[in-house]
Amino acid sequence: MGSVIVVGTGIAGLVAALEAGRSHDVTLVTKAELGESNTRYAQGGIAAALFPDDSVEAHIRDTLEAGAGLNEREAVAVLCTEGPGRIRDLIRLGVEFDRENGELARGREAAHSSARILHAGGDATGAVIERALVAAVRESAASIREFCFVRDLVVRDGRVVGIDVLERDAAGRDVPGRIEADAVILASGGAGQLYRHTTNPSVATGDGAAAALRAGAALSDVEFYQFHPTSLAVPGNFLISEAVRGEGAVLVDARGRRFMADRHPDAELAPRDVVARGIAHQMAEQGGEPVLLDATALGADFLASRFPGITRVCREHGLDWGREPIPVTPAAHYWMGGIRTDEWGRTSLPGLFAVGEVACTGVHGANRLASNSLLESLVFAWRAVGALNLAVHPQFERPEDGAGALNSPASGSTASDSFTRPELQRLLWDAAGLFRDRSTLEGAADRLAGWAPADDTVASLETANLLDLGRLVVDAALEREESRGAHYRSDFPLQRPEFARHTAWARRVTVPC
Ligand code: SIN
Repeated sequence: MGSVIVVGTGIAGLVAALEAGRSHDVTLVTKAELGESNTRYAQGGIAAALFPDDSVEAHIRDTLEAGAGLNEREAVAVLCTEGPGRIRDLIRLGVEFDRENGELARGREAAHSSARILHAGGDATGAVIERALVAAVRESAASIREFCFVRDLVVRDGRVVGIDVLERDAAGRDVPGRIEADAVILASGGAGQLYRHTTNPSVATGDGAAAALRAGAALSDVEFYQFHPTSLAVPGNFLISEAVRGEGAVLVDARGRRFMADRHPDAELAPRDVVARGIAHQMAEQGGEPVLLDATALGADFLASRFPGITRVCREHGLDWGREPIPVTPAAHYWMGGIRTDEWGRTSLPGLFAVGEVACTGVHGANRLASNSLLESLVFAWRAVGALNLAVHPQFERPEDGAGALNSPASGSTASDSFTRPELQRLLWDAAGLFRDRSTLEGAADRLAGWAPADDTVASLETANLLDLGRLVVDAALEREESRGAHYRSDFPLQRPEFARHTAWARRVTVPC
């Protein structure tokens, strides 16, 4: 029996651990407690063509349309074709999706041509999925290592053979250690903490992507960061699901006037990047004040039963959204870029697999269709284990398209200026957020180049990871001199055919063993 390390305990990591457990000794590693992940906070749901008035072809079409010409078509076909079967697996595993009259209930979200979003617990889809998967993993034979932070990948003879970690001991100290295995599956999630405003939890610091980068793996399309249009405009933000607009809520300006209809024929249900920029423009026109989401027409009773989590958080902030519009602002939500993989989760480094948000399978292209992310994690985690079961784990082969060398200094460079995580987050928000242009990006690149990480605590290492990834995002955003999907350059506001290609980034060094 072979052995595998799975890093991360969102839907991708838990599914990978459960599947791999059929054929491998599994060590499941998370830097927090089991179950803490982006998945846990997913509200809207999970999309799949499961209903008679829908089709896999329509789901593929919508996904490609949202992706603005940058999707990997084969990966999209895999996602939409295999999705329904994987969701039935989840139901068999005990995930209880919401039902109406005994049938699966479904919601609508922006840029979907039909209502195909399954949800659970009203607006607690991720939490319900996570709970069922955590219960299953606890019953499995997997060795679970909580509060175990991955510092780096161990590469030997060009192959990933383990992880170097800082693991919390009984006295609360983070102790260095090494775990070895035949393969490593990274399912460590995104990097929303790059930005000042994010819907992501504090654990989303891009550790897996940064470690893979340091180990020499190729990353792709890192300039594409999706900003969710509606997060509650309170300190720490809070996702207000797109499903709320899917149910009929509207966006209004400070004077109570609907503004999205003037900007796109689909108004509040236009593609996510269009709505997010529409809100940002409107906010700029009203001196930075948040816009308002008016859900009052849906009625307080309906809101409380369909969106219990949002209702609770609104109340905690003294807001009664059944009676009054609530203030909302865009926030960083999902990274389309990540460790480049094929449609089997294989990366450019033998022995290393990546699944879920940390991976760039190419399914999302330049802009992810709402509720495709839980589905991607599910489908590709399952497939990565399929590839793991092959006797060898060949490096994937995809034609090199737009491969770039890193311009920014690697960790360990001579940069020496101290900085704080909030400074980094403000810089990224201002320079590489919803609107970008050359001079602001160049200014940000200069500042980032001079910054050096502080020490070797877990918090500082997370911040160092964000620094590495922030440099990469800024470099990639500078290189893409066009606007496409979630990447908007004010100085190049149009899509340019010569940029209809992926960017790829790799550092040509490996971590010493
Ligand atoms: C939401 O509920 O709006 C988030 C869904 C998603 O990001 O896919």
